[in-house]
Amino acid sequence: MTKQVLILPGDGIGPEITAEAVKVLEALKKSDGLDIAMTEDLVGGAAYDVHGVPLADETMAKAHAADAVLLGAVGGYKWESLDISVRPEKGLLRLRKEMGLFANLRPAYLFPQLADASTLKPEVVAGLDILIVRELTGGIYFGQPRGIRVLENGERQGYNTYVYSESEIKRIAHVAFQAAMKRDKKLTSVDKANVLEVTELWREVVNEVAKDYPEVTVNHMYVDNAAMQLVLRPKQFDVMVTGNMFGDILSDEASMLTGSIGMLASASLDANNKGMYEPSHGSAPDIAGQNIANPLATILSAAMMLRYSLGREDLAIKIENAVGKVLDQGLRTGDIWQAGCTKVTTSAMGDAVVAAL
Ligand code: IPM
Ligand code: MG
Repeated sequence: MTKQVLILPGDGIGPEITAEAVKVLEALKKSDGLDIAMTEDLVGGAAYDVHGVPLADETMAKAHAADAVLLGAVGGYKWESLDISVRPEKGLLRLRKEMGLFANLRPAYLFPQLADASTLKPEVVAGLDILIVRELTGGIYFGQPRGIRVLENGERQGYNTYVYSESEIKRIAHVAFQAAMKRDKKLTSVDKANVLEVTELWREVVNEVAKDYPEVTVNHMYVDNAAMQLVLRPKQFDVMVTGNMFGDILSDEASMLTGSIGMLASASLDANNKGMYEPSHGSAPDIAGQNIANPLATILSAAMMLRYSLGREDLAIKIENAVGKVLDQGLRTGDIWQAGCTKVTTSAMGDAVVAAL
């Protein structure tokens, strides 16, 4: 049966990079009988400009009805002064929360061709293959109460709540252990258990879940140390599991080990592997509309969509191999360009991936 895919390009470079992923999917429809129907809608600032909200209820309903969602990026200067309740980011957060996408998989995989593109020495990053499993619908991003209040003395105070229930920790831990079982069977859980009770519980629950996976070696690391170890000896990591905010930060850091944040794909999954797929990077408003952004993170996110939600592992591998071939050919967008390579535009990169399929 034809699978329904909702495309949400969003803001900034979102429309440009998403168009390239759609190009790749269209090519696979023709060449490999990929049976999907794609429809497009608005999210983020683009939705706010039309509907006055960063995600219309009709769009939310379409996302629920779809088999998978492919999203570009949200946000931009234009909407920065809006009330926080209608900022572009809220559209994305609503999708994650209402679709129950608690498991965010962010693979920091270094294509061998890009070993010199990282700011770290090639010998430090060569062979790097880390999977960051980020909890995505809880923690300080969603904890209540939250807000900005005025104290009795007239001073304003901002506050958020960092909270995780046992069941939330358990289910993300299971996702991480299961991922580790398919890889090198090593899991690092990242917390701040020396200071925060919420992550003291996190550590306890991860240790309880670990009993179900005796083959997996588990270690625990404080987040500050993990941030340091990622640049010191990144290859010590296989799977990392952590909460929403730590995962947000560490995945941006890990992306630079792979040469550019423009290479980092992601999948956000619910309990049944229904998912939303998006590059881990933002909307880069400074380079929007110039046809220079790197579309590979989005194209690789489309590959993850084929793997996890559309049952086409074969085509996921096909896309990943095509990306490898394009890098072999020396084609690079500006963010991963090095002397001796050919600098290409966003759309030329998409064309090259299609040609390499
Ligand atoms: C990400 C982004 C988002 C987040 C923003 C855009 C809300 O940084 O997906 O990592 O913080 O989760
Ligand atoms: Mg982020």
